[in-house]
Amino acid sequence: MNTVNPTRVALIGCGAIATTQHLPAYEAAASAGLCRLVGVCDLDAERARSAASHFGVPAFEDVDEMLSKTKPDAVSIATLPSSHLDLTVRCLDAGCHVLCEKPVANDAAEAAQMVQAAEHNDRLLSICFEYRYWEEARYLKDRIARGDLGHVHAVRTWGGSAHGLPGVVHRSKTPYGSGVLAHWTIHNLDLALWVLGNPEPVTASAFSHQRVLNYPEAAGSWAEPIDTDSIDPTFEDFAIGFIRLAGGTVLTVEANHLQPPMAQREGWAFLTDRGAASLSPIGIWLDDGETWRDNTPSEGTVKACDYDMKPLINGFLQAIREEEEAPVSGAEIIRIQRLMDALYQSAACGTEVEMTSSS
Ligand SMILES: NC(=O)c1ccc[n+]([C@@H]2O[C@H](COP(=O)([O-])OP(=O)(O)OC[C@H]3O[C@@H](n4cnc5c(N)ncnc54)[C@H](O)[C@@H]3O)[C@@H](O)[C@H]2O)c1
Repeated sequence: MNTVNPTRVALIGCGAIATTQHLPAYEAAASAGLCRLVGVCDLDAERARSAASHFGVPAFEDVDEMLSKTKPDAVSIATLPSSHLDLTVRCLDAGCHVLCEKPVANDAAEAAQMVQAAEHNDRLLSICFEYRYWEEARYLKDRIARGDLGHVHAVRTWGGSAHGLPGVVHRSKTPYGSGVLAHWTIHNLDLALWVLGNPEPVTASAFSHQRVLNYPEAAGSWAEPIDTDSIDPTFEDFAIGFIRLAGGTVLTVEANHLQPPMAQREGWAFLTDRGAASLSPIGIWLDDGETWRDNTPSEGTVKACDYDMKPLINGFLQAIREEEEAPVSGAEIIRIQRLMDALYQSAACGTEVEMTSSS
């Protein structure tokens, strides 16, 4: 057990993801001597107090007060994207490493400012892309990098909520159009790009739609009644995107928060010159000319995906401890936000968007 200088960690935003994932993951890391939780902060005093008493740390309503009193080495930011730029820069300027929730920011200019602040302060900035820690995704990434499947010519990914609109985050009016593309399929897109070895997006095209406002009757099947007046009219609950990547791969994404009952909640299908692969569960097939040969690793050898954030939190703490690069690089942070911007821009203007470095 490593008890030497455990990383002092604070958290901002004591909402759903913080209390169900971030804080339990830091608590587990703390019991292994890898970190020490020193404080939590929320604008909502009751939320801050409740999380603080559950995890045995002081509660704060003011970020600067928490930073100056608890002097954390690292901060997890689990608030909505409209506050990510401000909070991230404040924490980095206070000398802290930062793990920030997705979506990264309101736009790529903000994402770039966050990355610049990390570079300027010589601190790590990473984003909660926990899917990258799935063993089966890592396995497939290695197989593709080794060339076992040949050139990947197309990837199809899809994702969204299976049983209606998720939490209040996605329903309420916010300064940021918090639709399914940004709040869910950013994970699908990030994982696809990462598995492929991070090719640059060249063009992006998208169509988006808000089914819930056109057809509020759909609310009848939801557990909580939907107040359509509270929904941001720019919010999309459905979108389709088509992205050309450098190196000759195309990526399509289908984002749907109102998936029909037969839909698989999310997935990835890779079509390659020598075969095909899928996540998740992992499947690999090689086409030997005569037939398709199942090349899927045998059951139990590669761990199936799960949504536990402990591997991500441990990866962040390890990067700090071992003075490694941030798990999600600055270039990757800006790239995924530029892609989101381009998809939203295309959906708004109805044409394909060139993703030159200035777009
Ligand atoms: N990585 C994932 O898989 C995953 C899953 C769910 C949510 N998220 C992301 O996590 C973020 C938070 O989502 P949530 O569902 O927990 O939201 P939430 O609304 O439940 O919690 C956000 C909390 O942040 C607090 N807050 C807002 N601004 C603040 C500020 N300036 N200072 C201090 N506290 C502040 C709010 O009072 C609230 O308690 C979103 O960006 C969401 O997309 C990520």
